[in-house]
Amino acid sequence: MTAPLIDPFARAITYLRVSVTDRCDFRCVYCMSENMTFLPKKELLTLEELDRMCSTFVGLGVEKLRITGGEPLVRRDIMTFFNGMTRHLDSGALKELTLTTNGSQLERFADQLYAAGVRRVNISLDTLDDQKFADITRWGRLPQVLRGVDAAQKAGLRVKINAVALKGFNEDELPTITAWCAERDMDLTWIEVMPMGDLGNEDRLGQYWSLKDVRARYAEHYTVTDLAERTGGPARYVRLEETGQKIGFITPLSHNFCESCNRVRLTCTGELYMCLGQEDMADLRAPLRAAPQDSAPLEEAIRAAINLKPKGHDFDYSRQRLDGQMPRHMSHTGG
Ligand code: GTP
Ligand code: 5AD
Ligand code: SF4
Repeated sequence: MTAPLIDPFARAITYLRVSVTDRCDFRCVYCMSENMTFLPKKELLTLEELDRMCSTFVGLGVEKLRITGGEPLVRRDIMTFFNGMTRHLDSGALKELTLTTNGSQLERFADQLYAAGVRRVNISLDTLDDQKFADITRWGRLPQVLRGVDAAQKAGLRVKINAVALKGFNEDELPTITAWCAERDMDLTWIEVMPMGDLGNEDRLGQYWSLKDVRARYAEHYTVTDLAERTGGPARYVRLEETGQKIGFITPLSHNFCESCNRVRLTCTGELYMCLGQEDMADLRAPLRAAPQDSAPLEEAIRAAINLKPKGHDFDYSRQRLDGQMPRHMSHTGG
């Protein structure tokens, strides 16, 4: 038995998020700038290298693999990678293989994802209004995403909608988005907007809508019960008794959850980020490439990186200014 991955704060690392591309067919304002420069293709890990990397993590006790981007489904031949990971589900080593997607390509991929063993997808969707959707994603079109949601459900995938809570943007849609998710039997998770990327003209502080307020808004209309259950991610869940639906809250600002962090993030170039809100990272591509037949150097590099996992992020808006801001774009690490 190999020893599991334990960080200096005694947190077991069992969840790997893998960004398979930095590219995306949308340009969400809180995630990317309008004119992004993307990595040259030769910088990317090949699909075989991604497989080796993930398989090594699974060998070290990672039980949950979430594929992210950019938009993961725009990476060429990405199903080859998903199909490769199926063997770890079959062996029982991997408990969950899943992805976070903008939904734009699900019409094409939902059935294939189900066949590869994916049972649940998180789809990012902040508004149900065509014009607002076009504004916030710059390049996205809502009907295409809604067709993706349909396709996912039709394929048998459980859907969770991720909505970034934005003051003055989707505040008024709380009841409609909630009812839409209830009707379709989809879970819904709200996320507090984080100060990542090149903020340009973005007023992140002005956009910040604390999920404490969101919870209070629900309590005006529903009986809200806290749930103990977790999905292995940072969300805390409540149930709305009147509809029975589950609502998640991801609160990096109003309630820091770093003490229970169980995850690290691999970028598409093989950098391992130990925390979303810190610069600390380790290059895993070099040890991977240096020894194609021997996974020992890679394992050693992974363990050394986990030993450097910081205690948590420093995001903070409480002093009425942006503290702990990260110049890295969210699309670099896939959220
Ligand atoms: P579940 O498996 O459904 O629990 O998903 P998840 O919440 O782990 O994954 P998802 O990709 O849906 O995450 C939603 C968002 O939560 C991410 O894109 C990030 O914006 C945020 N998030 C996830 N993990 C962390 C974390 O460790 N720190 C911070 N600050 N935010 C995180
Ligand atoms: N703050 C909070 N969430 C963000 N996401 C992207 N950028 C940010 C940000 N600055 C979310 C997306 C998606 C997930 C991958 O990360 O909406 O749900
Ligand atoms: Fe693309 Fe997701 Fe970033 Fe939007 S949040 S630009 S959909 S990677």
